[in-house]
Amino acid sequence: LVGSFLFATIGGTGYVTYSLWREANPAPQQPQSPAFPNGSPRKTLVILGSGWGSITLLKHLDTSKYNVIVVSPRNYFLYTPLLPSAPVGTVELKSIVEPVRAVARRTKGEVRYYQGEAIDVDVENKTVKVKSSDHVDEPLIEDLKYDYLVVGVGAQPNTFGTPGVYEHASFLKEISDAQEIRGKIMNSVAKAAILPPNDPERQKLLNFIVVGGGPTGVEFAAELKDYIDQDLSKWMPQISKEIKVILVEATPNILGSFEPSLIQYAKDLFKRERIHLKLKTAVKGVDDDYVTTKCGDDVEKIPYGVLVWATGNAPREVSKKLMEKLDEQDSRRGLLINEKLQLLGGNDSIFAVGDCTFHPGLFPTAQVAHQESLYLGEVFNKLYKIDQLKWEASQTKDTSSKQKLESRAQVLAAKIGNFKYNHMGALAYIGSEKAVADLAIGESKYSMSGSFTFLFWKYAYLSMCLSFRNKVLVAMDWIKVSILGRNSSV
Ligand code: FAD
Ligand code: NAI
Repeated sequence: LVGSFLFATIGGTGYVTYSLWREANPAPQQPQSPAFPNGSPRKTLVILGSGWGSITLLKHLDTSKYNVIVVSPRNYFLYTPLLPSAPVGTVELKSIVEPVRAVARRTKGEVRYYQGEAIDVDVENKTVKVKSSDHVDEPLIEDLKYDYLVVGVGAQPNTFGTPGVYEHASFLKEISDAQEIRGKIMNSVAKAAILPPNDPERQKLLNFIVVGGGPTGVEFAAELKDYIDQDLSKWMPQISKEIKVILVEATPNILGSFEPSLIQYAKDLFKRERIHLKLKTAVKGVDDDYVTTKCGDDVEKIPYGVLVWATGNAPREVSKKLMEKLDEQDSRRGLLINEKLQLLGGNDSIFAVGDCTFHPGLFPTAQVAHQESLYLGEVFNKLYKIDQLKWEASQTKDTSSKQKLESRAQVLAAKIGNFKYNHMGALAYIGSEKAVADLAIGESKYSMSGSFTFLFWKYAYLSMCLSFRNKVLVAMDWIKVSILGRNSSV
């Protein structure tokens, strides 16, 4: 028994060390020439974004077949499923990010990364205007030429035009948001601690309001309550008892896309854990001190110390510009794509994935963006072959060879099937080491909730982390928190 244990420990440690070393030391990439050895030009594929869609594509693309340029203002991939855990320190921020250059270096061919923001696309001339964020004094604006373009710029927070949100609330989409929320929580707690118990300012500071009862709002409210009850209560027992976590949701339910029994389970748990649910209540405005809500005809002004806004997605500026430009883009919710993920009106050379798109039946989730990009990776590998055949056809003078090559290219093109989404279900953490899961296996659907589901959630979220390094760091964070608790400093 001891021998097996030793063997497993040494083997496991060796495997972890070797995997980490291999990730940290990728083989050097050789600069790629503009043409292949047969003289055909290497086509340029520009990928916009470094999120779920774009990075999955980068990971699964044969980058030696293209001149690949990734453009994104964010030089890392962010593992969003664990972002709600970050503000309270259940996971460290560094554990859930992976540099774009690290992903790029692990691919077969050379990949160039351009830290900047795409601000416009010229569909006719196949160029994308990029504002570089590398230049501090004056942003550099450059036109990048593309043969193929993949738009994976995601979405921005939706405020539905509610006044005061941008000025006073924090969103939960980026690393900087998580840092900002953490700072606000710690500041509110510190300020409240020096005020006398009956001071109304003290209660205001200790009202933590989350707006939006979708998965983001629910998971964050749950993490926040865990932190208050499990950790803050040890250091500041009185303050932690006075903190009120309030979740405001416009519709009658939280987690609206989940099975009704799971919704009820989550609502009951929130009630038990004293997360105050304000359902059928819409936030109408925010100012320095109050959140104004409306429930039926009742208008209420709730004082707040921390306000987190999680009411879903709206298109980014670059997506809006594309929508305005192209006649076929007549939805205001996102870029319209066809079954091959080509942008409607984009001359077959622009593809779009993930949250920047709108397609009935495809939700703005990491799962969708991931599957779309796996499909696109295959498409680009086939397009390379088609482009090669077309080039060979253009070079030959012999009519029959030309026809043969062209028809082979057509056959290959016809073999590119449509994208098919395979929904595998949804998971959400709801606090107190409990989770809910709506699983889809083939045609069958299963609902699960409770502590076992939480273990499943942990397993699933760990296994979906982008790199082995992320997996190890997240697992270590969880172990650390279970033994030492969360850190209560900024
Ligand atoms: P993103 O991942 O948002 O990436 C967009 C990228 O584009 C970013 O790198 C951004 O910097 C870049 N970009 C922005 N503007 C420009 C520009 N102008 N030019 C170039 N690049 C640009 N989904 C799930 O399926 N399961 C979950 O558990 C889950 N949890 C979530 C938790 C939170 C807190 C949030 C906010 C979302 C969660 N989601 C989850 C949804 C999921 O994160 C998104 O659906 C997914 O990130 C979409 O991928 P994307 O590539 O389209 O966009
Ligand atoms: P969402 O769109 O899913 O939910 C937003 C909620 O805010 C809605 O319930 C809406 O009714 C409510 N709302 C809108 N305006 C309001 C107002 N003024 N006052 C009060 N409530 C208001 O948005 P969310 O949670 O940000 O998720 C975005 C996407 O990311 C979704 O597709 C979601 O499925 C996905 N996601 C998935 C997760 C998971 O699977 N665990 C976790 C987080 C996000």
